[in-house]
Amino acid sequence: MALRNIVTQGDPILRKHCREVDKVDDRIRMILDDMVETMRDAKGVGLAAPQIGMMRRMFVAEPEEGTVYCFVNPEILEAEGTQTGDEGCLSVPGYQGTVERPARIRIKGLDRDGNMQEYEFKEREAVVMCHEFDHLEGILYIDKSTNLYEVEQEEA
Ligand code: NI
Repeated sequence: MALRNIVTQGDPILRKHCREVDKVDDRIRMILDDMVETMRDAKGVGLAAPQIGMMRRMFVAEPEEGTVYCFVNPEILEAEGTQTGDEGCLSVPGYQGTVERPARIRIKGLDRDGNMQEYEFKEREAVVMCHEFDHLEGILYIDKSTNLYEVEQEEA
């Protein structure tokens, strides 16, 4: 596994609509593994492929330590209710902002082995999945936040 460079705001790749993954093969698995390692190294709870410069529809997330989700070609099947909370993004270092998100979602997509999985998420997990899904559409949370503010960055 290897750490990948995280692309930051201002790079046009973060604004692209990502393309579907044709097949979950060893190359895709290797990239997903690199994404997990990169996310953990950066102390993030999610990372989407465009954030490492790949315009493909896939992301990884670890909303609770030790529980990693990989979604390839994800689809949000249902979104219900609203919740409001603060978010940050590894591609927008040094900032946080308040964003309104669905309270509950149902999402499906391929897992690391190429098998279809479907989950229901609520609370913080729903926020993380929606944030990462947005990356695949070229959307950043700062587009939706009403009150972006600066935060102190943790020393690496
Ligand atoms: Ni992000």
